[in-house]
Amino acid sequence: MRVIVEEHADAVAVRAASFIAALVRRKPDCVLGLATGGTPVGTYRELIRLHREEGLDFSQVTTFNLDEYVGLAPTHPQSYRHFMQVHLFDHINIRPERTHVPDGRALDFEAACAQYEQRIREAGGIDLQLLGIGSDGHIAFNEPGSSLGSRTRLKTLARETIRDNARFFASEDEVPRMAVTMGVGTILESRRCLLLATGRSKAEAIRATIEGPVTAQVTASALQFHREVIVVLDEEAASLLERREYYEDVERSQRLYEQQIGRFG
Ligand code: GLP
Repeated sequence: MRVIVEEHADAVAVRAASFIAALVRRKPDCVLGLATGGTPVGTYRELIRLHREEGLDFSQVTTFNLDEYVGLAPTHPQSYRHFMQVHLFDHINIRPERTHVPDGRALDFEAACAQYEQRIREAGGIDLQLLGIGSDGHIAFNEPGSSLGSRTRLKTLARETIRDNARFFASEDEVPRMAVTMGVGTILESRRCLLLATGRSKAEAIRATIEGPVTAQVTASALQFHREVIVVLDEEAASLLERREYYEDVERSQRLYEQQIGRFG
């Protein structure tokens, strides 16, 4: 894993957006895996700025979101489809039919999940998967104990996640108890992963993800098996990492390397 530590959350957003923008410029018809939650909002804001001010073109980009709450209509203010419209899609030139969010109200979830996986395959697979992390170490909604080979499916939310996400709802009771989520196995098949974390509340999960053993109890730790993961953290989220110096040494080497071969490609 490549671990980048920025001073604060705004710098994390700019850095993350720069990786995504570099890919969109290099491969205009790329497939992006997108995430919701508070963490990627700044990254989306920066992508919108790059679109408006620098003409970053999303017209050929395809997107697949990680997850959706069960029972919420796409227009529900707390649905992840609505989140994506408000925080990104409505402000860039992406074609609506190229944006995919799992259906939280499917009549046959098994079929809908299989179809979601099929669509990802038909699009050629995900080039870059953006990820946040839950305070219990989950990615997407793959709660502790999820199979590390899991595919898109229904998942029951952990109480910690319900408590964490209650801040987006009027009360904890309103948070759906289930979600449709890409599996850990689905995420591991993406060509690159870009994991973001900010704030002290993520420090323990980040330490376990990067420096702990691979375990289904921290599903983000499965990223240790992925061959190309970039983690961008702020100081607080990085505060429990023990090998900071080494990550900094790697970044220095990476900068030298990039000066030689050109930008991230
Ligand atoms: C939810 C989402 C995850 C996200 C996590 C953290 O559980 N399913 O994809 O990473 O929340 O969210 P936040 O960025 O708001 O801390």
